[in-house]
Amino acid sequence: MTTDSTSRQADQIPPELLAEIEERITHYPVSKRSASLPLLHLWQNHFGFVDDTGIEWIATKLELQPVNIYELVTFYPWFRREAAGKTIIRVCRTLACAMAGSYQVREKFCAATGVDPHDHSHGFGHAPPTSPDGKFSVEFVECLASCGSAPVALINDDLHERITPETVETIVKELAS
Ligand code: FES
Repeated sequence: MTTDSTSRQADQIPPELLAEIEERITHYPVSKRSASLPLLHLWQNHFGFVDDTGIEWIATKLELQPVNIYELVTFYPWFRREAAGKTIIRVCRTLACAMAGSYQVREKFCAATGVDPHDHSHGFGHAPPTSPDGKFSVEFVECLASCGSAPVALINDDLHERITPETVETIVKELAS
């Protein structure tokens, strides 16, 4: 982490995001630290990931040590430290979905999007396997709270239910169009 990179990233924070961050912090008058997760979500929603620069900036903003933010980013799989694909396909792998075929569904999604499911070059917690053109990322996630319509996948913000290997191609074609 460097002071230079921190100031560069800070320069890129648009006034609207800064205002939202400032406003969000006011929700936690007793302990600014409680704003850590909300700020991480705001940061990732804007920049697409939370790298060392983001970690350091948020820590400074909340008067914490960088490790206090780093431990959240590395604990919660939702946060990533590098950019993912434009479309992120999160396939549930918990019991109901696994038994309904989610492992085959993930394989099909990888094949249809050009994602190498064994690509862990980014390292754990950095970014999910991503297609070479940067359009798609595919990853496993735990229960998406829609077990009754398994197998399911969250594609960006949309939940897709009762997916079959056969319907994957159609879904990907629609996403690509
Ligand atoms: S097990 Fe997949 S949504 Fe619950």
